[in-house]
Amino acid sequence: MADRILICGGCGFIGANFALSVAQAQPTAQITILDSLTYAGSLANLGQLIDSPRLKFVQGDIGDSELVDRTLSRGFDVVVNFAAETHVDRSLFDTAVFVRSNVWGVEVLLSSCRKYSIPFLQISTDEVYGPTPEGEAFDESAPMNPSSPYAASKAAADLLVLAAMRSLGQQAAIVRATNNFGPRQFPEKLIPFFLHRINSGQPLPLYGDGLQRRCWLYVEDFCAALLRLIADFPGGEVINIGADSDPTNLEVVTLLRELTGSTAAMTHVSDRPAHDRRYRIDSAKYVARYGAIVQRDLRDGLAATIDWYRKNSWSFDRLRGEQTAEFLRRHYDQRGA
Ligand code: TYD
Repeated sequence: MADRILICGGCGFIGANFALSVAQAQPTAQITILDSLTYAGSLANLGQLIDSPRLKFVQGDIGDSELVDRTLSRGFDVVVNFAAETHVDRSLFDTAVFVRSNVWGVEVLLSSCRKYSIPFLQISTDEVYGPTPEGEAFDESAPMNPSSPYAASKAAADLLVLAAMRSLGQQAAIVRATNNFGPRQFPEKLIPFFLHRINSGQPLPLYGDGLQRRCWLYVEDFCAALLRLIADFPGGEVINIGADSDPTNLEVVTLLRELTGSTAAMTHVSDRPAHDRRYRIDSAKYVARYGAIVQRDLRDGLAATIDWYRKNSWSFDRLRGEQTAEFLRRHYDQRGA
């Protein structure tokens, strides 16, 4: 059991959910969060955990090698890295910030983990594999073939981790996750963004024909899957964590409208450049070792997500931040949304 955990990016969507899962599942765990609180992170995501004596919060960037060194020198059983720029659409506007956080930041964490002999878990994405042909699911041996600058930066980080494991004998592992959804997601992403548009009576801008397919995993199921994996750390390996079905965006949005009782119009706006038609990963390796992943299907998970955003409408206020408002204007105005 890893009791001293450093969670990088622990104020973002998956990182904060993970911190809460650790706190609940491991009553003796000492949790340290390193987070630079960019537009996508918020201390409010941690709820009351922020006041707990079990939590130590360090504000800073994973690319800041002095800070990372000082932080890791305290000693940890594991470092889990969720810190990343993750929005594909933003990566089409500003690639450099993705390379700084997602590539350089991982290099800094890797080298510091080596220095202090701490196992390192990198949270990666199914997007590194690129689009999955209809009827197929990529396992961990599939080649990386990223389409967006975001996916390319995550693939570059994966290569750094793979090389450190192979040539330097570093104790590390990579998890490649499917699309997560649920509470605390920054509301620029499909599901919370469309919830916000429903609440504010605006049409729902589907890119292109809306027939792109994604597998959606409820974030609490992902965090539970990570806890099982960390308890039996798979050093030297890549492990996919996916979900069971791959609905189209149109199907997801139709379900969202049904569950909220919304009659908001769906509009087809111009497509994302190089928009991957389908992602699907094969999680057989994970399931054989650690058991089933999905506890809540899309319908149940969406209902819980809708309920959370209803009770936490402050989360939507974050869209009004200057930088985000500017991005949304630029991005959606250009599409005629
Ligand atoms: P997103 O949440 O950005 O995740 P990703 O691109 O990493 O899978 O988008 C999920 C899907 O929803 C993706 O196919 C793009 C699509 N999408 C829209 O059609 N309209 C939107 O306004 C947004 C944000 C996403």
